[in-house]
Amino acid sequence: MTTRTLRVGQPWRVFVVMLAVIFVSETLIMLMLPRVLPEDVNWFTESVLDAWLLTLTVAPIFWVLLVRPLRVLAEFRTEMLAQTIAAQENERRRIARDLHDEVGQSLTSLLIGLRTVVDSQTLESSRSRAEELREVTANVLDDIKRLARGLRPSVLDDIGLTPALERLVQDFSRTHGIEVSLDTHGLAGTRFVETIEVTVYRLVQESLTNIAKHAEAQNAHVSIQRHGEQLRVEVQDDGRGFAAVPIKQLMSEGHMGLTGMQERAALLGGTLVIESKPGQGTKVMATLPLMN
Ligand SMILES: Nc1ncnc2c1ncn2[C@@H]1O[C@H](COP(=O)(O)OP(=O)(O)OP(=O)(O)O)[C@@H](O)[C@H]1O
Ligand SMILES: [Mg+2]
Repeated sequence: MTTRTLRVGQPWRVFVVMLAVIFVSETLIMLMLPRVLPEDVNWFTESVLDAWLLTLTVAPIFWVLLVRPLRVLAEFRTEMLAQTIAAQENERRRIARDLHDEVGQSLTSLLIGLRTVVDSQTLESSRSRAEELREVTANVLDDIKRLARGLRPSVLDDIGLTPALERLVQDFSRTHGIEVSLDTHGLAGTRFVETIEVTVYRLVQESLTNIAKHAEAQNAHVSIQRHGEQLRVEVQDDGRGFAAVPIKQLMSEGHMGLTGMQERAALLGGTLVIESKPGQGTKVMATLPLMN
């Protein structure tokens, strides 16, 4: 599965090519026209013919270089806007589900526990119940912190991409009991623009979540490598893998994770490729350009 990437020429290149096209076309017309026209043609007719020929020559080139890419860009923006709104809705659904499943469950047991404290006959038993409930409360606090971290990776602002990923991987390993190694190259002491850091963080986060939900894996490996002006993000697991599914089908069935990752990569002009086969694990590979 690969992303659809948008290719629009660099503006200054398009500008230079257009100037060159006008210059060359007009020079050729000015050289050729007097030779092919009869001697007695007046200057007005010659100028109109010149203008017509120039317009006819440059119109298709302008169409290809300017109008078509602009139309593609407009369509791309509309599509991206729709996908961003869908991704936002999906994020809200996820938050609602996490609040219900994690915080809601723990608070319910806290509530039930408090009732048993109230009903306790002896001071001893109410003390031991209170001790248990302290633990439940600590878990709720952890859940809320984890949720907050998931909503806005403020850890990125505070400590940067590499430590934030280390923390994410550690949290994940502890919560799900899956061994995850993290390997970074060319990131030391570098801060990337916010969009790059958030995208990398979200790609790794969603890939790990998928591993916990679907992979039944023992081990996973996260690798972030900088190669010149490119950042390569890879998340691999040794789990059960899956067969290729068309994106449309995933979306219609309400699976938003993989498509969301593709959108995030495409928004930065990057690509996302997923390699997976049943029984052979899964590898998510994103390439993001650092200069845009
Ligand atoms: N690492 C993986 N190992 C095995 N199967 C996977 C893995 N990642 C994704 N899948 C398969 O691809 C499907 C689509 O994943 P996707 O992340 O788009 O949706 P989801 O995880 O089911 O739901 P969500 O919208 O909450 O992310 C999953 O339902 C699962 O069958
Ligand atoms: Mg998912």
